[in-house]
Amino acid sequence: MAQRRLPNFIFEYVDSGAEDERTLAANRSAFDHWRFVPDALVDCQQRDLRQPILGGISACPLIVAPTGYNGMQRDKADIKLAQAAEEIGIPFTLSTVANSTFEDVARATPKGRTWLQLYVMQDRAITENLLARAKDAGCDTIVVTVDAVHYGNREWDRRCYRDGMSLNLRNKLDALMHPRWFWDVMVPGGVPTFANIAQYMPQGQARADNGAIFVARQMDARLNWETLAWLRDRWPGNLVVKGILSAADAQRAVDLGAQGIVVTNHGGRQLDGTIPALDALVDIAPVCRDKLALIVDSGFRRGTDIVKALCLGADS
Ligand SMILES: Cc1cc2nc3c(=O)[nH]c(=O)nc-3n(C[C@H](O)[C@H](O)[C@H](O)COP(=O)(O)O)c2cc1C
Repeated sequence: MAQRRLPNFIFEYVDSGAEDERTLAANRSAFDHWRFVPDALVDCQQRDLRQPILGGISACPLIVAPTGYNGMQRDKADIKLAQAAEEIGIPFTLSTVANSTFEDVARATPKGRTWLQLYVMQDRAITENLLARAKDAGCDTIVVTVDAVHYGNREWDRRCYRDGMSLNLRNKLDALMHPRWFWDVMVPGGVPTFANIAQYMPQGQARADNGAIFVARQMDARLNWETLAWLRDRWPGNLVVKGILSAADAQRAVDLGAQGIVVTNHGGRQLDGTIPALDALVDIAPVCRDKLALIVDSGFRRGTDIVKALCLGADS
């Protein structure tokens, strides 16, 4: 359905994984080899999906993960997703490279809980300003992504472009063949901008196409545990480290004083060949128990997938 509705270049951006997409496939097949052994005859008249997470109560053990460029799929998609999360009663994570500002999302969801995903930029003033803005807008949790300092090698995605972020002719024509999308996304305001970080970008370069080059250049490839300690000192709320796959790194996050980790391989979009996040839980869960919130993503598509992760020790 999404493939029919969206131009090819947007579909590929969402759908494609890195290189041979082995990790992308493994994220799904990991769910095949974990099976339930249910206890029979347990009274389950009362069912309650609520789950405490990082100082709040979530209606169920589910969080909307951060995804950049949502506004390319639907007009004001970040706000729509945040409103859907607010209605259900679960947290929503706004990407650094969102097409709406943190402030606008927070204003549109007064009863919601919006977390800020942070890409750490080389210009530390940008990061400090993002933290201050999030705090002022009532944010209690930041999610620092540590597995994407360089853009993953997504070949299907890349093939849509002539050079840089300029679409090739086939994909330009294909976009015009999707009038419903064009009407929804392009007619209201043209190519969406990186609204959340537009104020830090050179004048006129915040559009999602040429702005992507600015973001790639600004990404701090020196990001390390010292940077996280620096962040820890500047952020009074919950700090969640997103991009952990080993027990040793989970232990470092505990030692740092993080409140949570996201065990993830970025949905198979970054380093192809990494292990599925679900399998990583076996070693990581014992390190986290009673110390920090254990969040997991990559390959989750159904409620039963979530139940498997909970059985393996995840909180959400
Ligand atoms: C289209 C798309 C954009 C994404 N953008 C971001 C992002 O801006 N920041 C981030 O930390 N993770 C980003 N991710 C990774 C997700 O937060 C999450 O880790 C991943 O999608 C989980 O795997 P799944 O796609 O199999 O559910 C993105 C994922 C997708 C599919």
